[in-house]
Amino acid sequence: MTDSTIAIRTATETDWDAVALLDAHAFGFHPTDEDMAFTRRFARTEDVILATDDDRPVAVVMHFAMRITVPGGTQLDLPGVSWVSVAPTHRRRGILRALFTEQHRRFVAAGAPLSILTATEATIYGRFGYGPATSELTVSVDRRSARIRDTAADPGGVALVPPAAARPALPGIYDRWQARTPGALARPQVYWDRMFADLEHRRDDASALFYLVHADGYAAYRRKHTPDGMVAVVDDLVAATDESYAALWRVLAGMDLMREIRVDQAADDPLPWLLTDARLPRVTSRDDAVWVRIMDVPAALTARTFAVDLDVTLEVNDPFLDAGGTFSLRVVDGRATATRTDAPPQARLDLDVLGSLYLGGHRARSFARAGRLWTSDEAVLDRLDLAFRADREPFAGWHF
Ligand SMILES: CC(C)(COP(=O)(O)OP(=O)(O)OC[C@H]1O[C@@H](n2cnc3c(N)ncnc32)[C@H](O)[C@@H]1OP(=O)(O)O)[C@@H](O)C(=O)NCCC(=O)NCCS
Repeated sequence: MTDSTIAIRTATETDWDAVALLDAHAFGFHPTDEDMAFTRRFARTEDVILATDDDRPVAVVMHFAMRITVPGGTQLDLPGVSWVSVAPTHRRRGILRALFTEQHRRFVAAGAPLSILTATEATIYGRFGYGPATSELTVSVDRRSARIRDTAADPGGVALVPPAAARPALPGIYDRWQARTPGALARPQVYWDRMFADLEHRRDDASALFYLVHADGYAAYRRKHTPDGMVAVVDDLVAATDESYAALWRVLAGMDLMREIRVDQAADDPLPWLLTDARLPRVTSRDDAVWVRIMDVPAALTARTFAVDLDVTLEVNDPFLDAGGTFSLRVVDGRATATRTDAPPQARLDLDVLGSLYLGGHRARSFARAGRLWTSDEAVLDRLDLAFRADREPFAGWHF
């Protein structure tokens, strides 16, 4: 950073108005008092770091205390970086880099195994060792033609419930789904409070939420008028069992006055195979969601399970901090040991690529084909490709 008037410091309680103003300019919306109240419950002021110019805040980063499920079911506590904004008056002078340097120094000191974020632009965070690790498909289903196969589970048990009855039921179902889904993020109480507050300005011109609840799953959707007819926009569809998923889709598919159903899904969602017409779920967009930066390679690799045995020496390049090096990764019966080694590498990759592989949502082979993963021979690539896969595609569950 070149400007001598710029300083980095931890925020204090009196800085929150300035934080809100920075965010408003960065993201193009005015956070309401309710928005700020939710954020202040989620973020501790001491986890907010500011850059100031002559004492005036000109940039902010913060993190929330998060928890993520990794392949095999272990849940890791980790920081979730958010509210990253540099005033348009001060961009491209290295202020984000200076803030990230301080913020990640704190993550190292706290012993974080990973850190995560969601990204407005895909070009910003690779240089800091973050790789896109979970994906979301937005799917549109022409409901008028949607028929569930006769062979699909038909357990019934879905009730139409008012918000007051949904409120105590949903968090437990979500927790069970989260525990079995790689990449899934635990939801803090403030998330649920915000969801049930269902603030009008967050409805995107659609109705308040409707809830369909089964003992093991639920769908929360809004009705939206469009020139082509009514659309059910599903905000949240969570099923802890396959049976409840089929039961919920039987109800959604039966909503006669809805022309279309819109929903976000993981890439391996079974919906096409539940329907008599597998082409009906039309993917209208595919986006990355959670980006992973591995802060401690051995801690991260030993926290997840692997699909096949492995014995490989990995050279990992960290372009930002000192998390890289050469590691011996041995997997026996799914469990890994990972230690630093001086042995010659059999595979070489940047830390962002390891982050992209970590939750099982991307294939080692794809990165090899793009020239971003080198292996000494085809057999090593084959094992890596198989080993990093998870039993299901990672899915975040919510954005922060
Ligand atoms: C993204 C943003 C925070 C970058 O802040 P900044 O202070 O201009 O970034 P820096 O000057 O520290 O840049 C650090 C590096 O990232 C690069 N970079 C920064 N923003 C980038 C962008 N939008 N696209 C591509 N590269 C970018 C810089 O070129 C620089 O690269 P280098 O260090 O390898 O030379 C800022 O543009 C911003 O507030 N944007 C709007 C809000 C937003 O999208 N925030 C991110 C939320 S996830």
